[in-house]
Amino acid sequence: MRSSEQTTVLITGVTQGGLGAEVALAISRSLPKLLILAGRDLAKAQATETAIKLVTPGAAIRLLKLDLSSQKQIRQAANEVNGYQESIDRLINNAAIMATSYATTEDGTESQFGTNHIGHFLFTNLIMLKIFAAGQGARIVNVSSAGHRRSPVRFDDYNFGVCRFLLKLILNLCVCDMNTEMGRTAQLTINGRPMAKQRLRIFFSRWH
Ligand SMILES: NC(=O)c1ccc[n+]([C@@H]2O[C@H](COP(=O)([O-])OP(=O)(O)OC[C@H]3O[C@@H](n4cnc5c(N)ncnc54)[C@H](OP(=O)(O)O)[C@@H]3O)[C@@H](O)[C@H]2O)c1
Repeated sequence: MRSSEQTTVLITGVTQGGLGAEVALAISRSLPKLLILAGRDLAKAQATETAIKLVTPGAAIRLLKLDLSSQKQIRQAANEVNGYQESIDRLINNAAIMATSYATTEDGTESQFGTNHIGHFLFTNLIMLKIFAAGQGARIVNVSSAGHRRSPVRFDDYNFGVCRFLLKLILNLCVCDMNTEMGRTAQLTINGRPMAKQRLRIFFSRWH
C-alpha cells in the first residue's frame, strides 16, 4: 500500500460542522498528495479549505462542485474528475441528507434515496476507472448508519411511495455488490457492511 503522501483523497459533503469536514481535516494532517473537497455549495467547501489550511498550511486541496441530487450535475462532476491527471486512491462517500420532508430530486427519485444512494452510486461508477487506475490498495469508503437495522429493503417501493425507512440499507447492499464484483477483479477494497447480492445487482442495474 502506498504511503499517505502519495494518495489522492476525494471526500463528498465537506461542510463545516459535519463529519466530512472533520475527516478532511484529519486526513490533511498526513499531507496527502491531493485532497479533493466535493460539495454542492463551493462556498462551503471553500470555508472548509480555509479551516484546513489554518491547521495544515501545506495541504494540497482542490474543490469540486458535486450536487448528488442532480444526475446531470453528477455527470459534470465526474467528467471533471476523469479529466484530472491524478487517479483517486481514496473515495469517501460521506455526503447525505437525513429525515427531510418528502421531496424528489430533479430526476424524480425520492430525495434521500436519490442523494445518499443513487447519487453516490452513479458518481462512484462514473469515476471507477480513476479508482482502478490507482491500483492495488485503492479504497472506497461508504459512510453508513445503523439505520439499516430498521427495515429490510422493499425493492417494490424504492421510491418511498408507501414506506419511508430504507435509509442506509441500500448503500450497505451496494457495498457488498461492489466488493464481490470489483474487489475480485481490481483488488479494490470497499469498506462497509457486507450483505445481499443477486436482487441488488438487478435493482442497481436501473441506474447504470
Ligand atoms: N451525524 C450522525 O449522527 C450520523 C449518524 C449516522 C450516520 N451518519 C452519516 O454520516 C455522514 C455525515 O453526516 P453528518 O452528520 O456529518 O451530516 P451533515 O453535517 O448534515 O453533513 C452532510 C453533508 O452532505 C452534504 N450534502 C447534502 N446534500 C448534498 C447533495 N445533494 N450533494 C452534495 N452534498 C450534499 C451537505 O452539504 P450542505 O451543507 O450543502 O447541505 C453536508 O456537507 C452521512 O453519510 C450520514 O448519513 C451520521
